[in-house]
Amino acid sequence: MLGHQLRAMIGLRSTSSRYGAAAQAFHWLTVLLVLSAYVLSKGDQDSLYSAAADGLRRFHEALGVLVFIVVVLQLLWRLIDSTPARQPMPPRWMAAAATLVHFALYALLIAIPTTAVLGTWLVGIPVTLPGFDIAPPIAKARGLGQSIMKIHTTLGDALLWVAGVHAAAALFHHFYLRDEIFQSMASRRMNDQS
Ligand code: HEM
Ligand code: HEM
Repeated sequence: MLGHQLRAMIGLRSTSSRYGAAAQAFHWLTVLLVLSAYVLSKGDQDSLYSAAADGLRRFHEALGVLVFIVVVLQLLWRLIDSTPARQPMPPRWMAAAATLVHFALYALLIAIPTTAVLGTWLVGIPVTLPGFDIAPPIAKARGLGQSIMKIHTTLGDALLWVAGVHAAAALFHHFYLRDEIFQSMASRRMNDQS
């Protein structure tokens, strides 16, 4: 009982109208890591595999693996937390579109690091994390690995487009429809409701 009250006070869990502190922290951390991984995938070099891009690739891989870990935790937390009830959105297709986009975002967030790790290993390169490398535990198949890395690149670009549409929709709700959708993912201090 006390635990429940304490959790409600801290606001860790989502309520019927807004995402809780934990869901919000996961969301915004994911946004930050995805954008950083994306920005740090674009070197001047042709490929992140070139020796000159070694440092950049390590950074990109570490950020990408962090995205994966955070998203898995986010999804596990989602199992035990509720999500805010959909506000009555006049057109039904809007709620359906939001659900579809969220599903697509999660699918991409899982598929992108998965293809990257698989592709990198197939190319025959260790996955490099700060402090240690994970050597390929599977046999080398360079051509296949390169094709999978092309898919990784395409999915990485797709994520940015889908997230862009998603963010534009959130802003459209806030500034044009003037409903509570955006606030549901914004810090409590940004809106007076609790
Ligand atoms: C959300 C996470 C990630 C995003 C958004 C992302 C995005 C991208 C993009 C857009 C590219 C293409 C860059 C270009 O050539 O213009 C790329 C390349 C690459 N990514 Fe990721 N990536 C992510 C996670 C990872 C992870 C976890 C790894 C670790 C194995 C990784 C390894 C690589 C490598 C090695 C390349 C170079 C591929 C090549 O040159 O053929 N990425 N990534
Ligand atoms: C890489 C960028 C982003 C990713 C991967 C992402 C991902 C997601 C996901 C997966 C959800 C669903 C949460 C759930 O119910 O489980 C969500 C909800 C939400 N996101 Fe994002 N997001 C991104 C950027 C943004 C940005 C930039 C904004 C604001 C401008 C934003 C605003 C929201 C809002 C308001 C919700 C909850 C409202 C709703 O039900 O649609 N997101 N996001």
